[in-house]
Amino acid sequence: MARKRLVSGMRTTGSLHLGHLLGTLENWVRLQDDYDCFYFAAVWHAFTDRLKIENLPAVVEEMIIDWMSVGIDPARAVIFRQSSLWEHAELSTILGMYTPLGWLERCPTFKDDVRDDESRSQVSLGKLAYPVLMTADVAVYKAEVVPVGRDQLPHLELSREILRRFNGQIAPIFPEPKELLSEVPLLLGIDNRKMSKSYGNAIELRESPDSLKQKIHLMITDPQRVRRHDPGNPDVCTVYAYHRIFTPDRLPEIAAGCRSAGIGCRDCKGILFERLEGRLAPIRQRRLDLEKKPGLVREVLAAGERRAHEVAAQTMDEVRRGLGFQG
Ligand code: TRP
Ligand code: SF4
Repeated sequence: MARKRLVSGMRTTGSLHLGHLLGTLENWVRLQDDYDCFYFAAVWHAFTDRLKIENLPAVVEEMIIDWMSVGIDPARAVIFRQSSLWEHAELSTILGMYTPLGWLERCPTFKDDVRDDESRSQVSLGKLAYPVLMTADVAVYKAEVVPVGRDQLPHLELSREILRRFNGQIAPIFPEPKELLSEVPLLLGIDNRKMSKSYGNAIELRESPDSLKQKIHLMITDPQRVRRHDPGNPDVCTVYAYHRIFTPDRLPEIAAGCRSAGIGCRDCKGILFERLEGRLAPIRQRRLDLEKKPGLVREVLAAGERRAHEVAAQTMDEVRRGLGFQG
């Protein structure tokens, strides 16, 4: 039986961190076994809230290397840049005609950005149309399945409505894409705020062992635990929050050790270092191997973009015929 088509994108906003690994990439790697996967760099989406991305070619290349170093496999998944496939833009323009403004303005991600007149004057048309472009990204490959995080659910709901409307008015061309939600643990930054490159609190996939050690050293522990013999409370400690995710097999031991002052924060951080290093070391090694092959990313993208174009061009033929653009 043919495998279902799956599409997902990741915005090119900078280097990838542990949050991307747990939240998205590990899931993408697994899905390669069961679906016809199309994974792309959402370059245009990255511009919806910034006017410029310094060194974009390098940002894209590093992201693709990161994907491959965690196990996204160009032999099993189609890997490409949104910005190389004009069909995404064409379909987005067309689907925009089937998208009432009210639907977009009600979208929670847009409402969060437009709170007052001041922010209204800053937010771009591109940002308003974010879900329309996302719909085109998925529909142009007739994807049935879209792995996304919970924050993207309203967008996918909108996608279904837009496509339903197009299908009803023009021709039943598009399947209604279903989300594939992965339950992922929330991983906070080393300062206990949302993990984000812009806060400087992220543990990056490219972290060296030394800087990993340094970041773990900076992690906030139980502030009441001042001296080594003070008992601690793991429930308020960032290090322990990481252990919950990365050291599930030793949790009771660590919690008890903390509460009884049996282990010190330094020991506790040492255990975490070993765990995280165990995850990052193989990724680092694969990246080194990939970086030894100059031109690799370029070849992967060229092949991916050829394949993506084949599929997208066929869909757009149907769309253009349906609308009467061509005979
Ligand atoms: N909006 C998605 C995010 O920020 C990225 C994205 C763009 C996407 N187009 C997509 C995801 C199409 C899935 C399908 O995570
Ligand atoms: Fe946190 Fe570990 Fe220190 Fe307890 S021992 S406060 S869990 S770092």
